[in-house]
Amino acid sequence: MAAFEFGTRVVHSGIPEKWEERVRIPTVELSRDEEKVFKKSDAEEKLQECIASTEAAKYALVYPSGTCAVVAVTELLQAGDHAILFDSVYHGTRTYLSICSDLERISVSFVDLRDHHQLEKHIRDNTKMVWIETPSNPTMKMIDIAAVAAILKKYPDIFLAVDNTFMTPYCQNPLLLGADIAMHSLTKYMNGHTDVLMGAIATSNDKLYEKLQVVQANTGIRCSPLDCYLVLRGLKTLHLRMERHMENAMKVAQYLEAHSNVEKVFYPGM
Ligand SMILES: Cc1ncc(COP(=O)(O)O)c(C=O)c1O
Repeated sequence: MAAFEFGTRVVHSGIPEKWEERVRIPTVELSRDEEKVFKKSDAEEKLQECIASTEAAKYALVYPSGTCAVVAVTELLQAGDHAILFDSVYHGTRTYLSICSDLERISVSFVDLRDHHQLEKHIRDNTKMVWIETPSNPTMKMIDIAAVAAILKKYPDIFLAVDNTFMTPYCQNPLLLGADIAMHSLTKYMNGHTDVLMGAIATSNDKLYEKLQVVQANTGIRCSPLDCYLVLRGLKTLHLRMERHMENAMKVAQYLEAHSNVEKVFYPGM
């Protein structure tokens, strides 16, 4: 599948296995077996399959919100571990990690990682995670994911997580650039219809996936089959919507740049 263009992959993944059923999106079954909090709905499984395919990942897990996915990634850390975060990450991510640090569960350094030398200066013996978001929300600051991943190659105990919400897998695949985790708020472009709150984590790292699965199952973090169905349906048009978003955004950015009352425009596309 990975050799196909994005549009082909996204349309042909997470669909029913039987050829005769392939003409439509999988049906959604809302009834759940209450005994089985460990069991995923078919819609959840199919959505995970589709997200993994878009991120060129072995695995994907979905969560009831992007914030919940942030919490899940943080659960990979042990008490006493240290995390380095880009200082311009989404404020919710910053707040949650700060709470964990205030509770003395973990320690956190917020660093301007656009200067790559800063990264190694802040790495400690107990550093286990580096978290970046590029471009960042809402400041649009950018980091070279491949450059950060190359530095971290010297530190096999540290995993690199990238919040890929703003770029989406249509524009950027963090795992192909050397990251260990691509995290998403599906609430935004991925679903695209402003009618669902969901999040996702994609990874090809067996150990991280295993741990994420155990935490997810045992904390009962399951998604509604209807939400999964809606996001899966939305994903099928992600490539078309992103092209239009970029076209529109460029027009707005160019208009603002030419405006006499505007000092500076932050738009990565320019
Ligand atoms: C970059 C980024 N990551 C994570 C989140 C959190 O996602 P959610 O709103 O789905 O909880 C947001 C929300 O605005 C975001 O912009």
